[in-house]
Amino acid sequence: MEVLTLAAVALALLHFGAPLAYHYYLRSKWLRKPWGVRRNPGYKPKVSIIVPTYNEAALIESKLDDIAGQDYPRELVEVIVVDSASADGTPEKVEEWARRNPGLKLVLVREPARKGKAFALNNALRYASGEVVAITDADSKWASRDTLSNAVSWLGDPSVGAVTCLKLPAGKGVAGVEEGYREYYNAVRLAESKAHSTPVFHGELALFRRELLEELGGFPTSLGADDSHTATRIALMGYRSIAVDDAWCVESVPSSGYHKWRVRRAQHLVQHFAATLRHLRRAPGEFRKILAAEAYLHVFNPWVLLLAAAILLYQAVKLSVAAAALLALGAALLAYRPYRTWVATQAYLVAASIRNLWTKEIAWEKQAKQ
Ligand code: GDD
Ligand code: MN
Repeated sequence: MEVLTLAAVALALLHFGAPLAYHYYLRSKWLRKPWGVRRNPGYKPKVSIIVPTYNEAALIESKLDDIAGQDYPRELVEVIVVDSASADGTPEKVEEWARRNPGLKLVLVREPARKGKAFALNNALRYASGEVVAITDADSKWASRDTLSNAVSWLGDPSVGAVTCLKLPAGKGVAGVEEGYREYYNAVRLAESKAHSTPVFHGELALFRRELLEELGGFPTSLGADDSHTATRIALMGYRSIAVDDAWCVESVPSSGYHKWRVRRAQHLVQHFAATLRHLRRAPGEFRKILAAEAYLHVFNPWVLLLAAAILLYQAVKLSVAAAALLALGAALLAYRPYRTWVATQAYLVAASIRNLWTKEIAWEKQAKQ
């Protein structure tokens, strides 16, 4: 085989080997490990639930119903809806809902102009009086009545600073991609959490100790993954930021513009990991390994695959039979779902890094959900 073709094979082995090795390590060493933190179901702090909204008129009422249906003591809950100049009547829907449900304390904060989700969250924080702040997207659902109580109980251990849910996909993405992606990522989130902390949080349900948010000066407005970045900074402070297996969320997948949605979210993750790289050296314990692995996998590894494919293509054009055969094998494997899911994710991450060069998508286009 030609030297260039061999180099491409080596790059492909690195690309696929790194996540497989990480995944194997997570599964064998950490996934079945005890948590090292103790849930305390008796811990019932006041919780401020913040719901950021931008044109969510179609979903906001059922979201509020969902919150009101939780088994967490009502007198310990305050809901803060922060709306950024929606044009579809979202704030009016919130006001009507509050009139029909006087039993639940609700504050509506109306921003005169839209400056993005994190900016809105910081505005809402000024009204939050709970010991715990819970953020939840309007287009998400909590899987059961005890989702919030379960998540809060983990904060009963003083070493835990932030808690997020695991995600159930609702609706199928293109060719089942979304579903496969979730199975793999939930196992990763859980194993990382057991080892120390996970650097990826979910806007469907993200709980933070309010005093830690204050110490950080609120959510970051210069990058998109407000939830993940905040959780990571809390882990860097030495607390645990964990995804737990007794709190599940359902997220809605856009009914159209699926690829655009995946690219934007990938953009935010790349921004987040690129910004955490410089804190790597002060990451505590196992979190350093986790952060290094995830930053590599999100920021660098996708390019390794692209480079391998480009070399093979170049060699194939130069009539290398080996290169052409390897390319054909890579294409044929797309029939296999986990591989297809993986390759699609790499494509989104590469597209995201490129797109980050000219836009950060801090205030993104609203997409209709299934
Ligand atoms: N107040 C306010 N202002 N809310 C906003 C704004 C804004 O400018 N932009 C979006 N939101 C609200 C939406 O109404 C929704 O409740 C929530 O923020 C999430 O927005 P989606 O449009 O549903 O985003 P997503 O689900 O695709 O984004 C996911 O990834 C983001 C990072 O890429 C979620 O997990 C987000 O929470 C996360 O920030
Ligand atoms: Mn969403």
